[in-house]
Amino acid sequence: MTHTATSERFCGRIGMAQPIILAPMGGGPSTPELVAAVAEAGGLGSIAAGYLSADELATAIDRVRALTAGPLALNIFVPPRRALNHELGERARQVLSGISAELGAPEPTASVPDAETFDRQVTVAAESDAVLVSFTFGLPPIATIERLQAAGTIVAATANTFGEAVEVAAAGCDAVILQGFEAGAHRGGLSERGDRHVGLVSLLEQARGRLPVDVIASGGVCSGAGVAACLALGAAAVQIGTAFLVTDESGATPEWKKAVIASVDAETVITRSLTGRGARGVANELVARLSEVEDELPDYPVLNSYTSGLRQRAKDLGEPEFQSLWTGQSGSVSRIGSARSVFDRIVAELATAADGLAGSADP
Ligand SMILES: Cc1cc2nc3c(=O)[nH]c(=O)nc-3n(C[C@H](O)[C@H](O)[C@H](O)COP(=O)(O)O)c2cc1C
Repeated sequence: MTHTATSERFCGRIGMAQPIILAPMGGGPSTPELVAAVAEAGGLGSIAAGYLSADELATAIDRVRALTAGPLALNIFVPPRRALNHELGERARQVLSGISAELGAPEPTASVPDAETFDRQVTVAAESDAVLVSFTFGLPPIATIERLQAAGTIVAATANTFGEAVEVAAAGCDAVILQGFEAGAHRGGLSERGDRHVGLVSLLEQARGRLPVDVIASGGVCSGAGVAACLALGAAAVQIGTAFLVTDESGATPEWKKAVIASVDAETVITRSLTGRGARGVANELVARLSEVEDELPDYPVLNSYTSGLRQRAKDLGEPEFQSLWTGQSGSVSRIGSARSVFDRIVAELATAADGLAGSADP
């Protein structure tokens, strides 16, 4: 059997044929076309709302709905609760200004979304037909969880340790996304600096049979064999980012996709130097220059907004050395092609892997 009883039940609740969730990928990759392609193929498509205004989110939902009636998830960033420090050290300001001047980008400034943006995003989510809403970078207020559940939505939040997963369950969420150390881009769990690093296998081993909620596994999974391993370890579904980041429908720049495929483990790093929060990507010139002044850099989301202008300018110029080249550790085994072809390959491999395991259990 390809699916476990746990994943069969979860897939039934979501209305998806396969236990595969397209990871929300903020900052460009998650186009409506990519979201729709995965939903049409039999998975759960996710809109990354983190960097969208409420109006932009509503537009994104409409664009996906013009392409598919398949199951849809939304992902929202929880704003930090503490007061933000906007201070950039003198050396850090010089480095950022210098890079901006080199690229012809405007002088870096910080403008961060307010709590009202979050409330408005939640309202759009509650009024949408999304079957699942996931939260990243913290726990939403209990009233928000209950509001979405009352609207019939499954609510999930991201954890980077087993302890965080226990907190997610205790807060009343229906599911926890266990994000392993292997994962691409930001550490999405509850720690403010994104500095909790546990591998996915260990997270799943710790969570197995010990959480009262469904577990979604995430980090470094690029194949059906990887999905089978996660299901065998108790996951209800697997959330996959990097394997879809390089597909035709993804909005990642061509040079970003190329860097992901060319990467090997040793070339990806978790750094807080680009955004103020630990995130995994290919090490490039931007990482090297900002790492030198890391102790003078503010936390997320302030630093993220200081660097976003120059990173966007690097994208416009097609310059990979100054973009954020987020990727998981398995980027080098990703394959370009349509999202449908990647999805179908993973599903075929899942069946083969499950047959192989069943076969090896024979006397
Ligand atoms: C480019 C990129 C952007 C991402 N953006 C988000 C996001 O907006 N919200 C979120 O919860 N996770 C985000 N993630 C993390 C994914 O949810 C997931 O944990 C990760 O992709 C899993 O590892 P993998 O990339 O090896 O599959 C992002 C990942 C990538 C690669």
